[in-house]
Amino acid sequence: MSAATDFEKTFESPCEVTARAPGRVNLLGEHTDYNDGFVLPIAVPLETTVELARSRDGRNHYYAEELQERAWSETGGAVPSGFAAYLHGCLALLRLSGHHVDPVSVRVTSQVPMGSGLSSSAALEVAFLRGMRELFRLDLDDVEIALMAQQAEIRYAGVNCGIMDQMAASLADSTHMLFIDTRSLERKLLPLPPRSELLVIDCGIPRKLGESMYNLRRQECEEAAELLGIASLRELSDLGQLIKLPRNLAQRARHVLTENERVLEAVKGVHGCRFGELMNASHMSLRDDFQVSIPELDLLARLLQEQVDVYGARLTGAGFGGACVALVREGKAAEVASNVLALYREQGQQGKLLVPQ
Ligand code: GLA
Repeated sequence: MSAATDFEKTFESPCEVTARAPGRVNLLGEHTDYNDGFVLPIAVPLETTVELARSRDGRNHYYAEELQERAWSETGGAVPSGFAAYLHGCLALLRLSGHHVDPVSVRVTSQVPMGSGLSSSAALEVAFLRGMRELFRLDLDDVEIALMAQQAEIRYAGVNCGIMDQMAASLADSTHMLFIDTRSLERKLLPLPPRSELLVIDCGIPRKLGESMYNLRRQECEEAAELLGIASLRELSDLGQLIKLPRNLAQRARHVLTENERVLEAVKGVHGCRFGELMNASHMSLRDDFQVSIPELDLLARLLQEQVDVYGARLTGAGFGGACVALVREGKAAEVASNVLALYREQGQQGKLLVPQ
């Protein structure tokens, strides 16, 4: 008899389906997705894996290996806390959309770090929905999976997020940038600028206050659009219009307008140096206008930007902690990482290399 798998040790029944989805890093277009704007994420070579089987007792059972946490729920019943809320949310939405699914046992393992801004939650939701699609032969395409994953996050985990992370987890690969117009969901895969590669470093501070501040920024953007009489800040075309807004809302709106312009310039196919300048400008705008940076992210971004082999660097993801992404001369990422991590340590900070590994 063969040795029991980890799934069998957890649930005492064999795994029926295994599915995966990657984390993502966003290169340009931050806090633009919930303003109907443009984004440019890429998948990272770190994945979340979900193993699934039908459960035997009418309940859904969840186990997360890295967290060593177990939970259960009944479809349509109370929402469990922690990682299980995302899975429960996906199940509830599948049912609400008319898909027939039986209760399941789910084992999650993940290489995508939590709280680093690489969107571990979208990777979890998309991997799980892919697994459910296969197990129950559901008629769901990759965009529908992304939209359902986003709703799970909004309705069951309380984060009023945009569509970027789930689209990236569902449709991106780690060799191309995925340009998305988040209003139409039109998209295009594009190569990185020639002779460049990516570097992602965690600043050592997990996203604190992330969810409440994120929801607040979103509200501010909606308020600004309403005061300007437009459906979303995507429609803003002229900085002159911002005069009508209170100072803080004018700053938020200016970030969205300039960030959309940066993405649209980048996707024309600029070389590494220009792409890097756009990333640096994006960091400044997120720090000064959108106000989602923290001193550690500013320090790390500056140390990266000062390296000769770095084209540009910025905080990535929602901010308030997490990681910085840099575009680096091809072949130089590992060397730049070790220099920058040493300099960061000299300033009393502990960073962590996330990509490349
Ligand atoms: C989080 C959200 C995304 C996006 C980014 C900021 O990752 O989930 O929808 O808004 O923040 O760009």
